[in-house]
Amino acid sequence: MNFDLNEQQLEIQAKVRKFAEEELKPGVLERDEKCVFDMDLFRKAGELGLFGLPYPKEFGGQGLGYMEYAIAVEEVSKVDASFGIAFSVNTSLYGGSVWNFTASDEQKKQFMTAPLSGTVIGSFALTEPNAGSDAGGCITTAVKDGDEYILNGLKCFNTNGPLAKYTAVYALTEPEKKSKGLACFIVDRDLPGVRTGKIENKMGIRSAQVSEIIFENCRVPASCKITENGAGFKLAMKTLDCGRIGVASQALGIAEGAFEIAKNYMKEREQFGKPIAANQYLQFKMAELAVKIEAAKYIVYKAAMDHDNGRPFTQSAAKAKYIASATAMEVTEWAVQFMGGNGYMKEYHVERMIRDAKITQIYEGTNEIQKLIIGGALFR
Ligand code: CAA
Repeated sequence: MNFDLNEQQLEIQAKVRKFAEEELKPGVLERDEKCVFDMDLFRKAGELGLFGLPYPKEFGGQGLGYMEYAIAVEEVSKVDASFGIAFSVNTSLYGGSVWNFTASDEQKKQFMTAPLSGTVIGSFALTEPNAGSDAGGCITTAVKDGDEYILNGLKCFNTNGPLAKYTAVYALTEPEKKSKGLACFIVDRDLPGVRTGKIENKMGIRSAQVSEIIFENCRVPASCKITENGAGFKLAMKTLDCGRIGVASQALGIAEGAFEIAKNYMKEREQFGKPIAANQYLQFKMAELAVKIEAAKYIVYKAAMDHDNGRPFTQSAAKAKYIASATAMEVTEWAVQFMGGNGYMKEYHVERMIRDAKITQIYEGTNEIQKLIIGGALFR
């Protein structure tokens, strides 16, 4: 397997790195502190074509693949993991919901072009208070009434939820069939009957906006239903496979970003008359982390390549999310430790990164769910 990036991928990497350093880095601490998401930055990234990387040009994309997308999410997340998840959810969970199954070309054009250009943002509403890991336990309903569906229910932990113009909503058109009765609707958030509920106050990814979305007799045109009745659960699963490559890339970026900060610090910081990097114990630990990051990187890129080459990628996406998030957690914990009192302070960034790393082990399927997916396939 060839992991060398081609010329175009190297160009994308350099472009996104520049954007992350010049645009995201200056305000990242303040956005985290104040829990604000900057839509101007989102629009700028849209102008650079980041959100449409894996989709065809006719639907507002760049005609490339998940490899390019993974590289881009990785680069932004080295600097700002909150931006990384907003990007990933907009592209893979929202965009993927429209793209992955039976939406018509007209629906794809209608619902993908603006979110992929960054002029508006999309979100993905599957989880409910009693349907987290058990995603098939949703009870939100969509009842047909003439040319409309009437949605009722509450979705939670919705990344981009308070900001989204469009949300991909998974709701039961046939409640008696449980998860086999789910369909997917693209809901314009300006419609009457849909509102943002509680906005979450989170441990990490604090500038990403996460909220409840509440549907109270929300009438949605039937043309916004993008699956057949009953096809929603499989669409959600397929879309989450894509999303997990995004989260894995985000986690990889966090690990790499924290590693670089710690490495530079260790070269500068002197104690006992020498840079702390001169201590063999610290070098050994950094060596272990460097190997783990490299291993995670290739597993993440492998998942992206499986996607792009038309191979099944449920397993490789689960492996990528599992290993990259575990690596992000381990690296950020050591980065804080190596940087001592300074590492614990906000201005050194790794304090934020350790908080951001934790969620990568939880969302888009906890790592226990990833092991269930990987382990289940081993014995099928
Ligand atoms: N692709 C396509 N189809 C799939 C699939 C996949 N990856 N996984 C399962 N399916 C199909 C199965 O083949 C099966 O089809 P049949 O009925 O035709 O046989 C059907 O879906 C049901 O499959 P399971 O019996 O395996 O389903 P399950 O109810 O046992 O659930 C699960 C499996 C893997 C545990 C799943 O519920 C899951 O992924 N849970 C985690 C949910 C999750 O990731 N939530 C995160 C939401 S988004 C978020 O985090 C917030 C955010 O904004 C970032």
